[in-house]
Amino acid sequence: MKKAHTYISNSQSETEKLARRFAHLLRGGEIVFLRGPIGAGKTIFVKSVAKALGLKSSPTSASFSLMKRYSKGKTVLFHIDLFRLEKEEVFNLGFEEMLEDENSIILAEWPDPLADMLPVDRLEMDFILCEGDKRKITWSGFGPVSKHLSEQLCQKK
Ligand SMILES: Nc1ncnc2c1ncn2[C@@H]1O[C@H](COP(=O)(O)OP(=O)(O)O)[C@@H](O)[C@H]1O
Ligand SMILES: [Mg+2]
Repeated sequence: MKKAHTYISNSQSETEKLARRFAHLLRGGEIVFLRGPIGAGKTIFVKSVAKALGLKSSPTSASFSLMKRYSKGKTVLFHIDLFRLEKEEVFNLGFEEMLEDENSIILAEWPDPLADMLPVDRLEMDFILCEGDKRKITWSGFGPVSKHLSEQLCQKK
């Protein structure tokens, strides 16, 4: 059953705060799908997660605009953005690199073209635009790892 948790963000810095909290719950291998319209804060969230973990970006074989790889030591995070792409278009883009290591953390905006290629245990986050700078961020977990993550994120608000 889908059990969504909610966080109301009133500013970019409040979204960054949620991202920092989220970052410290990651252990490796998590998959996160971020949905919501342009300008909702998905990219800000992902960049803040990478920053909170002290990760630095490094080149990938896939097109730079579609996938950024961040790492530090053994921690590897992929930030994917498949805006306007179709399933057929992402098939041969070099996502194998990302899928090889099951400890990679994957955060994907506009993730649908990639959905069938990834394990089903994933956290699904929705970013909803409200008036002004307000954003409603909801999330649900769809497997043991992401359900646990989902519960942890909603604690200690
Ligand atoms: N509460 C908020 N959370 C996140 N971003 C916000 C918020 N309020 C305003 N913004 C602004 O909205 C924009 C979000 O951009 P971005 O993260 O690139 O969105 P997306 O990746 O969802 O298209 C930024 O310009 C940011 O400054
Ligand atoms: Mg974005």
